[in-house]
Amino acid sequence: MKQSIPTIVISEQQSTCELLKLYLQEFEKFNFLAAASDLTKAYNAIKELDKSLIIIDISDYQEQALNFVSKITSEFENCRVITLSDKPQVDIVIRAMRIGASDFLSLPLIKDEFFEVLTKHYLDMTGGKPKKSKCRVITVYSNKGGVGKTSIATNLALELAKITKENVALIDLNFQLGDVTTFLDLKPSFNISYMLQNLDKINEDFLLSTLEKYKDTSLYVLADPPYFKPAENFSSKEITKLFDILRETFSYVVVDTSSGFDSKAINALENSDLIFLVTIVNLPALRNCQRCMELFDKLGFDDDKVQILINRYMENDEISAEDAEEVLGKNIYWKIPNNYFTLMSAINKGVPVSSVNQDSNVALGYKHLALMVSDSVFRQNMAKKLGRV
Ligand SMILES: Nc1ncnc2c1ncn2[C@@H]1O[C@H](COP(=O)(O)OP(=O)(O)O)[C@@H](O)[C@H]1O
Ligand SMILES: [Mg+2]
Repeated sequence: MKQSIPTIVISEQQSTCELLKLYLQEFEKFNFLAAASDLTKAYNAIKELDKSLIIIDISDYQEQALNFVSKITSEFENCRVITLSDKPQVDIVIRAMRIGASDFLSLPLIKDEFFEVLTKHYLDMTGGKPKKSKCRVITVYSNKGGVGKTSIATNLALELAKITKENVALIDLNFQLGDVTTFLDLKPSFNISYMLQNLDKINEDFLLSTLEKYKDTSLYVLADPPYFKPAENFSSKEITKLFDILRETFSYVVVDTSSGFDSKAINALENSDLIFLVTIVNLPALRNCQRCMELFDKLGFDDDKVQILINRYMENDEISAEDAEEVLGKNIYWKIPNNYFTLMSAINKGVPVSSVNQDSNVALGYKHLALMVSDSVFRQNMAKKLGRV
């Protein structure tokens, strides 16, 4: 039998502690050790454990509780933390994740969500592999150039890696004319054309051991180096095979595309779970977006699979987001604010936007977007917060 993992619940509310205890007993794989409201006592108990799960309600003494999360996650490598709050504001969720919490759930607790999170942690903590079928392939597309596809794909992929700490692949389908390597100042030694030519040799172990991670994150970039060589023509079967391998290896695959409808782009779109159709709010761009949606419809893509992202959004634009929704006949999924200065500074330095200014409106925009697609629990929390359920 697999081990059960000692679990400590920290909350000021007796009722929360009792409910968590009941749920944990029902779930069985986590062994409820104690409930505490005293952080020092909890700390001393954690210190004695090799491996532990801490469920901490930060509703009442938020600052103190977050400092505690930061302390235990930095001191105890094998300690996992799930934070709970009855005030799950976006900035708090992001802060909690940044300082090391593995999950964030809103109170009152929804049992299914809680069990979903427990399952994920149990598999992670006992060396079981989480189901790979969970991989989401997200393609960022527009039939217009210069609307911000590469900026969104790059920053979204990086934020996803930072938030989930799971393996994320960023694929540049522009091949030798791609911008991803420039945006992240990379010189990949192992390129996407090589992979397509050697599909039979490539598998999960090969990819994870060969590809370089971006700095100290779990982001892997697959792009051609920016020197010129003739484009290879790959069949749709080969591209689909590549996506199959990527799905087995990564939890998220973010694809940056060129603006055309070439076979690579169509293949990527077909292989995606989610397509972000990027537009800016002016009439020609919205018309283009409409045409794309018609085409996607003809290709048989589900309505839910295609989501609209507005880039370079400005509150006082002549055309409002509501106008855009009316023209497109579809809700806007998310808006990335206009911030030319921060974007240009990031691109010129070859760093992600969060490295230029992590509190800028645009960096937060990418982060929120990553939270929305990161996994169902976060998505539900965020969606509720944003009034999009
Ligand atoms: N949110 C934004 N605010 C301001 N400028 C942006 C924003 N997103 C992208 N840009 C600018 O638009 C230009 C094109 O962006 P890019 O991501 O390369 O678009 P694409 O990949 O669609 O061609 C870049 O120079 C970038 O500075
Ligand atoms: Mg681009």
